[in-house]
Amino acid sequence: MAKIIRKKSLGEITDVQEIQTFLRDFNVTFDHWSIPSEARVYTEKQVLTDSEKESLLQTVENRFVYLKETMGYKTRDLVVLHPEVPGIDDMLAKFDKVHYHTDFEVRYIIDGSGIFGFVGENEKFLLHVEASDFISVPKNIKHWFTLDEKKRIKAVRYFTDMAGWVPNYVDETTEIEDR
Ligand SMILES: [Fe+2]
Repeated sequence: MAKIIRKKSLGEITDVQEIQTFLRDFNVTFDHWSIPSEARVYTEKQVLTDSEKESLLQTVENRFVYLKETMGYKTRDLVVLHPEVPGIDDMLAKFDKVHYHTDFEVRYIIDGSGIFGFVGENEKFLLHVEASDFISVPKNIKHWFTLDEKKRIKAVRYFTDMAGWVPNYVDETTEIEDR
């Protein structure tokens, strides 16, 4: 289950609807989309061939159709990360510093887990995401992303424009005081 982690004095949020409300106030869309059972044969594997990746994407194609029709998304791909991916730490280092994009960052977590961090006006907080979580981070929102200790995730990325999806770094730490 997803979880919002704030500084100790503010506590954690674990209820899906409360997480949704909290993130909505922050302009971030959060939802819970169940993973179809046909996906399991692929999500259970650590490594997927290109054709298995496409087959896994097909099991959640209805979500892409919905995003295309409602928000004009044009492409999607599947990111598969696990501890044996060569250069995984360098890959993660691109996104684990505070940055923003000039386009939305939209992810549907199919397997595994990860951690988004956000820089709000008054506080920084973390959102721990797991399989079934859908998140849409609007342009210009300061955030970062990393994996948790399991270092394993499969996530669909949806794009309207690949060019808008590069990190613009911000001089800010990812440290949350009093955590
Ligand atoms: Fe990002």
